[in-house]
Amino acid sequence: VRYDVVVVGSVNADLVVGVDRRPGPGETVLGSDLATHPGGKGANQAVAAARLGGRVGILGRVGDDGHGALLRTALGEAGVDLGHLLTTPGPSGVALITVGPDGDNSIIVSPGANARLTPADVAAAREMIAAASVVSFQLEVPLDAVLAAARAAADAGGRVVLNLSPPAPVPDDLLALCDPLVVNEHEAAFLLGERSTDDPEAMAGALLGRGVRSAVVTLGAAGALVAGLAGTTAVPSPKVEAVDTTGAGDAFTAALCLRLARGDTLEDAARHAVRVGAAAVRSPGAQSSYPAAGDDLPT
Ligand code: RIB
Ligand code: NA
Repeated sequence: VRYDVVVVGSVNADLVVGVDRRPGPGETVLGSDLATHPGGKGANQAVAAARLGGRVGILGRVGDDGHGALLRTALGEAGVDLGHLLTTPGPSGVALITVGPDGDNSIIVSPGANARLTPADVAAAREMIAAASVVSFQLEVPLDAVLAAARAAADAGGRVVLNLSPPAPVPDDLLALCDPLVVNEHEAAFLLGERSTDDPEAMAGALLGRGVRSAVVTLGAAGALVAGLAGTTAVPSPKVEAVDTTGAGDAFTAALCLRLARGDTLEDAARHAVRVGAAAVRSPGAQSSYPAAGDDLPT
């Protein structure tokens, strides 16, 4: 099997409550009924790419609890190869999510089984990783596993895409493999530190100075900036009414990876990916809102 995209990353149960506003310390507020959705940045990307018609595999870990079974089913139904979705005794990853009136979200992740992903798991998945055109990473699984898998992907001639989310320090040799690095403005500011500015375009360019081969800065409703050797290009997003933005960035990155795997330029891939990301904010949940191949996308 050849894979368009292999995702190395997290698998979480998203426990979602709608709120008018979030409580401060010592405060209690009432929210909506609880919704439980399959999520996790890694699983979201895998499901999004598979629903768009990609041949997709995932390397990750779920717990041996009820959430783990739900998460495995969601990935399987989307058509993701589960050969390296491993089960760990104990709880699955859980994301505690509040969604505000504007579709904005706040998330606390309890890593659970995701924290047990190891370089040995990566070694066991070497064949799958080496068979991928694009290997996609985020930072909800341990960095040593990410590093091992990114090196394995690069050694095999695969293209490495890293979403620096949640933001954490990463070694320069990982950054040097990223083509592209995908970050939002907060993550870009984190990575640039003192060299960070208020100007997203300057930030996109400055990311190249951190050694990445290319960079994409996602700007939410404003679309994305694509930075490479040829300069920085703005890619506007279609306007949609936001119901729940959770996982829209994962849908964007997945669509980007799939188009790159199929030979698009980074800019063309980003023009498609902003439409997939916009589609994903129109309904509740992450994976539950992802479009399928052939669905009408917003323009
Ligand atoms: O990017 C959105 C995802 O972040 C959610 O699905 C949640 O699980 C957290 O990982
Ligand atoms: Na959504």
